[in-house]
Amino acid sequence: MQTKVILSVWFSFLMLLFAASCVKEGPQGPSGTSGTNGTNGTNGVNGLDGAEKCSACHASNTDLYAKQLQFSNSIHRIGGNFERNQASCAICHTHQGFLERLETGALATAEDVKDPTPINCRTCHMIHETYDITDYDLRTTAPVTLINGGTVDFGKGNLCITCHQSRPYVVPVVGSDSTVISSSRWGTHHGPQSALVFGLGGYEVPGSLEYTSSPHKDVIPDGCISCHMANAFGDSGGVIPLI
Ligand code: HEC
Ligand code: HEC
Ligand code: HEC
Ligand code: HEC
Ligand code: HEC
Repeated sequence: MQTKVILSVWFSFLMLLFAASCVKEGPQGPSGTSGTNGTNGTNGVNGLDGAEKCSACHASNTDLYAKQLQFSNSIHRIGGNFERNQASCAICHTHQGFLERLETGALATAEDVKDPTPINCRTCHMIHETYDITDYDLRTTAPVTLINGGTVDFGKGNLCITCHQSRPYVVPVVGSDSTVISSSRWGTHHGPQSALVFGLGGYEVPGSLEYTSSPHKDVIPDGCISCHMANAFGDSGGVIPLI
């Protein structure tokens, strides 16, 4: 925008100069006063100029490097299963699929994900959306309605639960021969942690005693991250070297 204005001012100036050079010159007038210096451009977010905004994260401290180090050691980075880029897997296994799912709410991407990337800083944070410190905000903290039913709320841990939940499945009827195992991935899949912590989706043997849930989940407001992202030990974040 500014560049356009400057260009058109220059253009008008050149036109005037051209026009002026065609007429007969009169005596020279007095010099004008100097203009004021321009200010650094802002991008309208918080009034800081570009360099100040970037240095909220890209600075001489090691805050960013520490997180990169911990992340590079996590299964999200090194697990390698992000080649699961088919539409129904990509929503949890690839960065691109997860972002698409947050936007559409669908349980599959519209197409297989081309050039898949593993989960990374940009998957969980808003990196380079506004280019200021709020880029570290989490992509989602909304309570999650699980694919197999039940709404759970673990605060910041809801980000994790969006993926770490069972895929759709039908509980087999005991003694029946009607259950068809349709693939090697039939069943809850590998991410039933949220259902487990909240005591949802388990098989209940009919009987006289009611099933109750443990109160553990009520004393850890941010759930998953309270344990898995506790203070780092060396290059590992959390109680176990994984986020
Ligand atoms: C909220 C913190 C934050 C702010 C503000 C921020 N960045 Fe980044 N930047 C990051 C993170 C996180 C990464 C990714 C690091 C990784 O993948 O290991 C990154 C990566 C980069 C990279 C490497 C290439 C890439 O995209 O991975 C460049 C270059 C960069 N940023 C430039 C900038 C510039 C220029 C600005 C300001 C206009 C800026 N950043 C503002 C956090 C930030
Ligand atoms: C975008 C979906 C997604 C999100 C969000 C997500 N995960 Fe994961 N997580 C995965 C997938 C997929 C794997 C397996 C990666 C692989 O094997 O390549 C995994 C692996 C893990 C592992 C390692 C499991 C193992 O077998 O060693 C842990 C622990 C974990 N995640 C915890 C978390 C926590 C805590 C959060 C929230 C901060 C979180 N995850 C957010 C999808 C996700
Ligand atoms: C709702 C989210 C979700 C969907 C959809 C999903 N996965 Fe996963 N998957 C996970 C999570 C979370 C883990 C890691 C959990 C852990 O290690 O405890 C995982 C782990 C895996 C693993 C590593 C464990 C192993 O067996 O070696 C493979 C392979 C895998 N998934 C394949 C697939 C395939 C293939 C599909 C599609 C048919 C798929 N996943 C769909 C969430 C999902
Ligand atoms: C699986 C999701 C996930 C990934 C991937 C991830 N983070 Fe985070 N990050 C979180 C969560 C959740 C928190 C909040 C932890 C808390 O509040 O205790 C967090 C906190 C942070 C913080 C502290 C922010 C603040 O407001 O104090 C920084 C800095 C950060 N992450 C940087 C990174 C960088 C850099 C990367 C990539 C190298 C990265 N994260 C990858 C989920 C993730
Ligand atoms: C009270 C602390 C705590 C909470 C809350 C918690 N976990 Fe865990 N989690 C653990 C511990 C401890 C282990 C076992 C670590 C081991 O075996 O090395 C574990 C294991 C796991 C594993 C398997 C890791 C592996 O190496 O196979 C995954 C994946 C996981 N948790 C994800 C989650 C998710 C997602 C949530 C939130 C729904 C969650 N956890 C909540 C402490 C916790």
